[in-house]
Amino acid sequence: MKRRRYAGTDYRKALNIQDLERIAQRRLPNFVFEYLQGGADDERALQHNRAVFDDYRFMPRTLTRVGPRDLSTTLMGKSHALPLVIGPTGYNGMLSRDGDIKLATAASRANIPFVLSNVATTSLEDIAALEGLNAWMQIYFYRDRDYVRKLVDRCQAAQYETIVVTTDSAIYGNREWDLRNFRKPMQPTLRNLLHLLMRPRWIADVLIPDGMPTFKNLDDLLPPGKQSVQGASAVIGQQLDSTLNWDDISWLRDRWPGKLIIKGILSPDEAEQAASLGVDALVLSNHGGRQLDHACSPVEVLPEARQRVGQRCQLFVDSGFRRGTDVVKALALGADAVWLGRTTLYGLAAGGQPGVAHALDILRREIDRTIGLLGVERIADLETSMLVPDRRH
Ligand SMILES: Cc1cc2nc3c(=O)[nH]c(=O)nc-3n(C[C@H](O)[C@H](O)[C@H](O)COP(=O)(O)O)c2cc1C
Repeated sequence: MKRRRYAGTDYRKALNIQDLERIAQRRLPNFVFEYLQGGADDERALQHNRAVFDDYRFMPRTLTRVGPRDLSTTLMGKSHALPLVIGPTGYNGMLSRDGDIKLATAASRANIPFVLSNVATTSLEDIAALEGLNAWMQIYFYRDRDYVRKLVDRCQAAQYETIVVTTDSAIYGNREWDLRNFRKPMQPTLRNLLHLLMRPRWIADVLIPDGMPTFKNLDDLLPPGKQSVQGASAVIGQQLDSTLNWDDISWLRDRWPGKLIIKGILSPDEAEQAASLGVDALVLSNHGGRQLDHACSPVEVLPEARQRVGQRCQLFVDSGFRRGTDVVKALALGADAVWLGRTTLYGLAAGGQPGVAHALDILRREIDRTIGLLGVERIADLETSMLVPDRRH
């Protein structure tokens, strides 16, 4: 039977994340939506990130006297309400004005951590000033290591406790949607400009108040006058450093007194090496299918990675999570929490901060219902034995 989908633009009517995705598509200019949605090359990694959840089915227990569920969990030493983190995504101000602040505020109200991207449109100091938020800062290693040093010092001055280093983007992924939509960086084609005119709400929210948002944490990297996205994208491309290696991680480990997370690992060997270096947590990730096409899904390598790192560090996972059942499968396979990328961005584009809150609420209810139906009350009670691998393929 064909499922009926919500066809409007009111985020409050979204029953699931897919509804929010469609609303986001209806509200954003197409070049912005495609920036958000696209994957690398033929998007096989992107598709596989969703397909992998079909490889596991649940085997519930039914007579276990399930009471109210408790979804709280400890992440990097702090208690949080849900096993979820809003992960780092760049250029959120293009989806909704002050997008980073809206995501961070929704995270704080839901009592989960928020990770600010290195290429954010809000300064790390402004995020640090938000009351009651557990904010972590994501950084890239650029060729200009002096910039990295200064950025780390800024994080310390702003009293961040946790830095996240992304390691899967030392070479820029090939996203052809982005390339097709622009004549030059940030100059949309005529077709896209016409489409833009049909999105007056977005123009009023994002464009009219301050023009296109600019990067707020790259001042020490970009030459004067290159803060605009147009100017910055060329500089960032040249600054990506493909020579990134373990010495850089050791250097940062020695320099940064706070907690350190590596994001972008897929190989269990590398996971083990990171744990031996004293890294506090890892995010198994293929960057939401935006970097290496045909990369394996983090969910496939999760059980072995957990076995190799043991309890030496926390293990997080992202890429393709859209349902509470997806999250519960990863937790049962050994993850400590799931990081969200597009899921909360759909909420942001569909309804601003309340839209993000709605996305988190959908997931909270789905996770709650799923663990209850599995016969348990707490995240810690989930076990791999509750999953049956699908052996048909
Ligand atoms: C629009 C967009 C921008 C992103 N920007 C960053 C970034 O600046 N830094 C980073 O480490 N990861 C970035 N990512 C990757 C996400 O942190 C995350 O790994 C990915 O979105 C997870 O996949 P999902 O979107 O399918 O959940 C970005 C992803 C998207 C969709």
